[in-house]
Amino acid sequence: MPSKQSYSNMLAVLNVKNNKWIFYTLIFILVLFISSSLFKNSDDFIIKPKYLVPFADELSVKPTNLKEWKRRHYLVNYLNNEQNVLIYVTPKDNYRSDDSIKLKYKFDKTLAKCEVPCIWNETRIEDLTTEELKTADAVFYVNQEVPLKSKAWRGQKLIQYTLESATQYPQYHDKNRYFDIHVTFDEDSDVPTSFIKDPEKWQTKQPFDMDKLSSSSPPISLIASQWTKFREAWIPTLKDHIPIASFGSVYWSANWDIHPECANLEPYEIKNCIISKYPFHLSIEISQEKDYSTEKLWDVFNSGSVPIIWGAPNSRSYLPHPKSAIFIDDFPDVKALADHLKYLIENKTAYLEYHKWRTEKEWSEGFDRKAYMNIENMECNVCKEVARLRILEGRTNLPQFQVDLEDNVDTI
Ligand SMILES: *[C@@H]1O[C@H](CO)[C@@H](O)[C@H](O)[C@H]1NC(C)=O
Ligand SMILES: *[C@@H]1O[C@H](CO)[C@@H](O)[C@H](O)[C@H]1NC(C)=O
Repeated sequence: MPSKQSYSNMLAVLNVKNNKWIFYTLIFILVLFISSSLFKNSDDFIIKPKYLVPFADELSVKPTNLKEWKRRHYLVNYLNNEQNVLIYVTPKDNYRSDDSIKLKYKFDKTLAKCEVPCIWNETRIEDLTTEELKTADAVFYVNQEVPLKSKAWRGQKLIQYTLESATQYPQYHDKNRYFDIHVTFDEDSDVPTSFIKDPEKWQTKQPFDMDKLSSSSPPISLIASQWTKFREAWIPTLKDHIPIASFGSVYWSANWDIHPECANLEPYEIKNCIISKYPFHLSIEISQEKDYSTEKLWDVFNSGSVPIIWGAPNSRSYLPHPKSAIFIDDFPDVKALADHLKYLIENKTAYLEYHKWRTEKEWSEGFDRKAYMNIENMECNVCKEVARLRILEGRTNLPQFQVDLEDNVDTI
């Protein structure tokens, strides 16, 4: 039997040991506490299954051409594994005012014509409860300076969308800390979006028939409602040389009803119909900004007319063909431009050279890229962007079985 003495010795040893254990336990709890406060949400961990690593890395690199964009979308669609993307959209400024681009939905409320299942729910954000807001992967704002509400959870994405000029509306282009995803016409934005509509129809549009131009008709049309310095100063100088039929409030000179055959169409078609009555159309944008080409340029191709461009300094790089438009800046002065237009009116062969691209098999890569990401599939492209970030942030249930992605992806 151990003596009393050795008992107390033993207890003393135990106490020391206990103290140590308590000490270590405290340290352990402290470490747990610190790390759990550092990574409060489990969704902050980036989980990359081994086979995903090269693709996840690829998904973090911004595509620069059509092939890379298609590849990104293919990968996102595959890795997203059919999981819904829910986006609340705060309706403002009637961002899809044009009837020709109304959204269509499937029975399960997801967007029709989108590979990634996307619930695009237009609801005033003020009407949503916090619980409802928490279910959303993202909140989409139209022409908004700062979000109306803060994030409902950390991984939620706030999206800023505008197709307005940055010169006119710098506040919608402010790359501030509030928004995670920027959607503009600029190629440098997260989801570049062009105004191109229905390019598949352009091929079949008959070039304006110069024989039908009456000697009393102006050869140039213009539809603009906003005055800008350039429009105010430059249009009269052209008018001194060649007449212009202006259907908008900027130097208004012609009524829509002078073309009764255009009268009973849809608003978008009326405009195209008017443009098609003249061999040239003035595509003078509000400002000269990189990538800023609006319907004032693209809709002209949807009629058989030729645009006369003042706008984005890089617009030449994304026309369907270098000889599909006339650039004001290519002429030393207004008279030289007017002389060239008069020459084209007299020489049918030379005029038709500006329409030859329509029947060519391939259009420029720059154009194809812009046409691939356009105003009609913007919503779907935004959903793919939200799905992409969800994959990268490890919040997606990745596919169980690895198909040979590398083989498939190159066939797209
Ligand atoms: C949009 O979201 C609200 C709130 O969650 C819901 O009540 C409504 O049914 C949804 N609408 C559609 C079309 O999904
Ligand atoms: C008309 O245009 C064609 C094609 O550019 C050119 O070959 C021809 O010489 C022009 N004719 C006249 C009379 O200028």
